[in-house]
Amino acid sequence: MHRIELPALWPGVDAGLMFIGDRIGGEDSRLSRAMKRVHQSRCARSLAVELLAQQGIDAKQICKGPMGEPLWPTGCVGSLSHTDQHAAAVVARNTACRALGIDVEEDAPLPPDTDALILRDEERGQLDAVREVVPGADRLLFCAKECVHKAIHPLRGAWLEFQDVAVRLDIDAGRFTVHPATPPARHAFDGLRSEGRFLQHEGQLLAVLVLF
Ligand SMILES: CC(C)(COP(=O)(O)OP(=O)(O)OC[C@H]1O[C@@H](n2cnc3c(N)ncnc32)[C@H](O)[C@@H]1OP(=O)(O)O)[C@@H](O)C(=O)NCCC(=O)NCCS
Repeated sequence: MHRIELPALWPGVDAGLMFIGDRIGGEDSRLSRAMKRVHQSRCARSLAVELLAQQGIDAKQICKGPMGEPLWPTGCVGSLSHTDQHAAAVVARNTACRALGIDVEEDAPLPPDTDALILRDEERGQLDAVREVVPGADRLLFCAKECVHKAIHPLRGAWLEFQDVAVRLDIDAGRFTVHPATPPARHAFDGLRSEGRFLQHEGQLLAVLVLF
């Protein structure tokens, strides 16, 4: 298990990515899928506690809310993500931003049958130009939309669908922008400004969304 250094994203916002694959035993592990999820979840939480400590905030644990959302110490916001191989967390004081979302996914195309559920027509045009650099360009859009859910749901109580927002990628800058595309999304994003960043790391995509 080791921490992967990430570049600074926004002032006052600390994100971390941790390789955890070797701790779970890889393909040969006899741990059940549920046990692995518990382990991954703990890794993401301990990373978040470390990041909060970096900001001078003493959090013993990060509990889970009724809708699955992490419960942050008073005055803090954050988000968690985990896969078989990686755990990720992002935290900030609520003076730095209003909400955060983070998601890690494999840098590989989405299964063809999920495409219609995830992508809006206006998002498809950008994908061909991007695939050479990001093999999972369509999955990066999915990743960005998962960040939207993790940031907007705890803040506004809105449960948006994938079709409710359109994501625009700026591959050279490692940034993405989120555009509310339906009335529920425009309502949820009312008065908020969002900025997204993404990174590629050894076959993984990491996306982080901040709401100001
Ligand atoms: C909840 C969801 C985002 C989790 O994503 P995932 O890829 O399965 O799993 P990840 O490891 O990336 O994230 C899991 C973490 O998400 C966080 N999470 C779950 N529900 C959440 C919520 N309502 N709000 C904020 N964060 C939430 C939790 O911290 C969870 O970790 P934990 O189970 O260890 O506590 C996803 O399963 C889901 O329901 N998505 C549908 C909603 C959506 O994305 N709509 C698109 C909006 S544009």
